[in-house]
Amino acid sequence: MCGIVGYIGRKDAVPFLIDGLKALEYRGYDSAGIYVTGSGAVKRAGKVAVLASSLPDTFSGNAGIAHTRWATHGPPTERNAHPHTDASQSVWIVHNGIIENHAELRDMLIQEGIPFSSDTDTEVLSQLIGTYHTRGDLLEDAVEKALKKIRGTYGLAVMSNREPSKIVIARLGSPLMFGVGTDEYYIASDATPLLSRTRNVIYLEDGELAILTKEGYVVRDMSRQPIEKTIETLEWSTEAAQKHSFEHFMLKEIMEIPEVIQDTLRGRVATKDGDAVLGGLRDVAKRFKDVRRIIITGCGSAYYAGFVGKHLIEEFAGIPVEIEIASELRYRPFTADPKHTVLLAVSQSGETADTLEAIRLAKKQGMLTLGIVNVVGSTIARETDAGIYNHAGPEIGVASTKAFVSQLVVLILVALFLGRMRTLSTAEGKKLAKALLKLPEQVRTILAGRKAIEKIARKYSNVENVLYIGRKYQCPVAYEGALKLKEISYIHAEGYGAGEMKHGPLALIDESFPTVALAPRDSLYEKMCSNIEEIRARGGKVIAVTTDGNNAIRRIADDVIFVPKTHEALLPILTTIPLQLFAYYVARERGLPIDKPRNLAKSVTVE
Ligand code: F6R
Repeated sequence: MCGIVGYIGRKDAVPFLIDGLKALEYRGYDSAGIYVTGSGAVKRAGKVAVLASSLPDTFSGNAGIAHTRWATHGPPTERNAHPHTDASQSVWIVHNGIIENHAELRDMLIQEGIPFSSDTDTEVLSQLIGTYHTRGDLLEDAVEKALKKIRGTYGLAVMSNREPSKIVIARLGSPLMFGVGTDEYYIASDATPLLSRTRNVIYLEDGELAILTKEGYVVRDMSRQPIEKTIETLEWSTEAAQKHSFEHFMLKEIMEIPEVIQDTLRGRVATKDGDAVLGGLRDVAKRFKDVRRIIITGCGSAYYAGFVGKHLIEEFAGIPVEIEIASELRYRPFTADPKHTVLLAVSQSGETADTLEAIRLAKKQGMLTLGIVNVVGSTIARETDAGIYNHAGPEIGVASTKAFVSQLVVLILVALFLGRMRTLSTAEGKKLAKALLKLPEQVRTILAGRKAIEKIARKYSNVENVLYIGRKYQCPVAYEGALKLKEISYIHAEGYGAGEMKHGPLALIDESFPTVALAPRDSLYEKMCSNIEEIRARGGKVIAVTTDGNNAIRRIADDVIFVPKTHEALLPILTTIPLQLFAYYVARERGLPIDKPRNLAKSVTVE
């Protein structure tokens, strides 16, 4: 993995390929490369800007492919960067995904006398395609034959200097789409590079292969049967994917949260009835009547959002909810009572490999599968039986911020919707609905006070460890706060249920090991105060996040961040935002690449 772009048409391909790679930089990568018909290939370790400045002035052509690589097999060097070629240098390919049987295929090809020039799994594919193609197969047939030999996942674009006016693309488990222009096509692994060129897009499905020329395109399956595709319209604006005057996308995206909450709520809150209107669930609503169990799954932040969702659904709808990270769920039997079980998957990108596999497993067993997804038209959005879009707009910073908040908002709506179908009273529903609508303004207040959070962040920016604690709704917020800090500041941080302190973590505490305590005035506030006292008694510093007016907490905390009062179930939304800002300012103080932390990619399309 990580990002693919391609162009075929009447114009010079290079400007789109370089712009496209830049638009994909947010996904994280460590090397980049480009192949253009007539000009050849250039690859560089490091940034797209380095690649762009290495291109000779004459580098141009009407068709080309390019790639940003995030190393999986072999170090991030020029020799391992894509495009990869075959022994005769006829075929050039860019590939996202993983070839699982690459070692055995490599051995087989080496025995046939084929020399390899990289450490990647992808080169096995370029060599295989090259073998068939140089023996006389058309490029598309050579690609198809090679794909039948491999096990694994791919989104790939292939060119050949024997058939220079053609690009063949194929997909299995790794997203790929192409924008449709007039006599030109733009290929991309996500929609961001396409926004500046066209709104008309065709998504490839798993098992599909497309042949693109400037005159047109043909999509077919692996038995060469043609497939009719629908052209869909991209909704995101180009504006939304730009940084404007902000120093980082992460800060821009945090500052957008009030509008994101409004967009997520738009048309979905029935204040008079105290209910949620979820059009995406209308067709499957009947099945909720007999639901006895919900399993929520996701990875990273999406999983933590799901963890808050567990509390919400159990509290408001009385349905037992299990929560499990998708990478574990997909490998355990969770088959009991599939007719009465719903799998609810949470994913910003809608492309996370583990989440997708957990969904496929649940579907196979006959469960109803639902998705809470931000990227419209993504694989999870298309493969789940029904779902709810976040409408959070493109999230470019690798660390999830606005999408996480939007996931929490959707989960509250789901809890309200399921609750009102069961025992939740109109009066309780109305209380929640009213509180939901106040959130955007309340978030604005927190954001307006960000200077104070920046000051606290500066004070702690040199520590080596931070503990985050919370209870009930605030426990997953603690997990998420710790994740945010570790991924962008590289400070070791752990989230814990505060009640666990005496069972181990308290041993870590001394003056150098601060704790962020999520202590809003909620039903477990007194218990949190006891945990804070225990930390203080061991010399630990405490940064408390509490609700407005609770000045008394200053007696037991070293630093205090206030958030507005709201319904207890909605507090995670408000307490999360100071933690995002805290992580942001700590990382900025440490001078780190906040939007693209080391070793991380925005969307994890391989296992
Ligand atoms: C952390 C973060 C990741 C993602 C995770 C799931 O800030 O962004 O932990 O939440 O990789 O990604 P999606 O939501 O795209 O499935």
